[in-house]
Amino acid sequence: MKNRTFVIALILITTALIGWYIYVSAQANEARSVQEVSVDWWGSAHADTSAEAFTHWNEDDPPEVPVNCAKCHSGDGFIDYLGQDGSTAMAVDAPAAVNSVISCEVCHNEQADLLETASLPSGIEVKLGSGNSLCATCHSGTSSGATVDETAAGFDADEIMAEAGFVNPHYAFAAATWLGAEGEGGYQYDGKTYAARFEHAAGVQSCTECHDPHSLHMREDYESEAANLCAACHSNVSGYTDYREVYVDGIDYDGNGKVEGLYHEIEGMRSVLYRAMQQYSAGQTENAILWADQYPYWYIDTNQDGEVNEGEAEFANQFSGFTPRLMRAAFNFQFSAKDPAGYVHNGQYMLQLLYDSIEDLAAVVDVDMSALVRPD
Ligand code: HEC
Ligand code: HEC
Ligand code: HEC
Ligand code: HEC
Ligand code: HEC
Repeated sequence: MKNRTFVIALILITTALIGWYIYVSAQANEARSVQEVSVDWWGSAHADTSAEAFTHWNEDDPPEVPVNCAKCHSGDGFIDYLGQDGSTAMAVDAPAAVNSVISCEVCHNEQADLLETASLPSGIEVKLGSGNSLCATCHSGTSSGATVDETAAGFDADEIMAEAGFVNPHYAFAAATWLGAEGEGGYQYDGKTYAARFEHAAGVQSCTECHDPHSLHMREDYESEAANLCAACHSNVSGYTDYREVYVDGIDYDGNGKVEGLYHEIEGMRSVLYRAMQQYSAGQTENAILWADQYPYWYIDTNQDGEVNEGEAEFANQFSGFTPRLMRAAFNFQFSAKDPAGYVHNGQYMLQLLYDSIEDLAAVVDVDMSALVRPD
């Protein structure tokens, strides 16, 4: 009996020692040297001195990033926003330097360490803890569904707003997608409920759990063959190109007769919305609408053939004459188009927004929605 207790104790101690060893070596693996981290950072979009995001104002006189853009488009501007330069915190006080990338000290300083919440364009503040609140402060866009309602205030749903320009959610607003109804980033229709923050699964629940904050790639580098971060749970993923093929429930949301990766279901739902918008604009506004992937995105379909032809996607030919109903749809269209990773950030929320925009247009034009599925 004594012997048996001894053996069990020995096994327990050995197991504990092995566990401790694995834990310590894992920690040692994770803690990366400043040098390694710097190499990763140099290769990232945050360090890209030639990017449009950091050089857009270079030809201005004087060349500086305006106050309302500087928080996200200038490293110096973000330091000003944090109050790390001694100025008022949570506000940019002055125009900021151009060519100022997101360098080490932008994220590693006292005020940055203390940042626990992010304020979103909807006006909502969300507590996300340190690290993730940095990401969400710059990656939440510049307008939200509420901006659309402000623009449309006082107009009937199908009344033309001659003066109103397109309300653009902006770019790379992953946090607005990820938070869903919690951040109210998209245009959310009255009387509908929307998916909240995408909880996903243990280990992939926040920006910095998935994205390495320096390389910005997935934690298990997606260019390597392993792509372990996803493969552990989605067995069909063997590399980056497989991400867009992931689906879980096997529902044909866009009604095209095929169950596809969530990325493709969203693309399909957006095509249905696009056709409905073209139909609606041709009948209800003075011009038929077209979308092209260049600012200001919405153009007049001069020959009404539904396609972008030579000369149509020109700044001078931009669409005007939105009605509130068309603006809501255009906002959600763009919201889903400009977060190409919406399928992994919060695919259900994206599908709900697109579906509801289609339904809103279907109150006026004839759209067959019978094959479409709204995630619940
Ligand atoms: C909340 C943060 C934020 C604010 C404020 C902001 N931007 Fe951006 N903007 C971004 C991010 C992030 C991108 C990066 C998109 C990319 O290239 O990946 C971007 C991209 C851009 C681009 C490049 C678009 C493209 O097609 O590559 C332009 C131009 C731009 N912003 C203009 C502006 C202007 C003008 C303002 C001020 C009126 C502004 N932004 C304010 C976050 C912001
Ligand atoms: C966009 C914000 C951001 C920038 C820019 C940035 N870091 Fe980090 N860094 C972080 C975050 C967030 C963590 C915490 C990592 C985690 O959660 O595991 C971190 C962690 C670290 C660590 C700890 C080791 C590790 O990998 O966890 C080191 C060292 C480091 N950063 C150095 C740097 C250096 C040097 C630079 C510039 C070359 C830099 N960082 C730029 C956000 C940033
Ligand atoms: C101070 C603002 C700021 C902060 C903080 C910030 N980013 Fe960025 N991020 C940007 C801008 C601006 C770009 C576009 C840079 C470019 O076009 O080269 C960008 C680009 C990116 C991209 C690449 C997008 C693309 O088009 O390929 C990813 C991914 C990203 N950021 C993730 C993060 C994560 C994760 C964090 C938090 C650890 C973070 N960012 C913090 C401003 C910021
Ligand atoms: C489940 C893991 C996961 C989480 C959580 C996550 N991302 Fe991503 N993100 C991805 C993947 C995967 C891609 C690339 C997808 C693709 O290209 O198809 C991506 C792409 C991006 C891009 C580039 C999109 C573009 O405009 O081209 C940005 C910026 C970004 N993420 C920022 C963030 C921020 C900020 C957060 C936190 C609010 C976040 N991500 C949370 C997995 C994640
Ligand atoms: C720890 C396990 C785990 C990891 C790691 C993981 N996922 Fe998931 N994923 C899930 C689960 C569970 C769901 C279903 C969640 C839900 O519906 O609430 C899911 C859902 C998804 C969805 C939505 C599918 C649908 O049909 O609604 C996509 C897309 C996705 N994951 C992509 C990825 C990508 C890309 C990665 C790697 C960057 C990844 N996942 C990593 C477990 C994981």
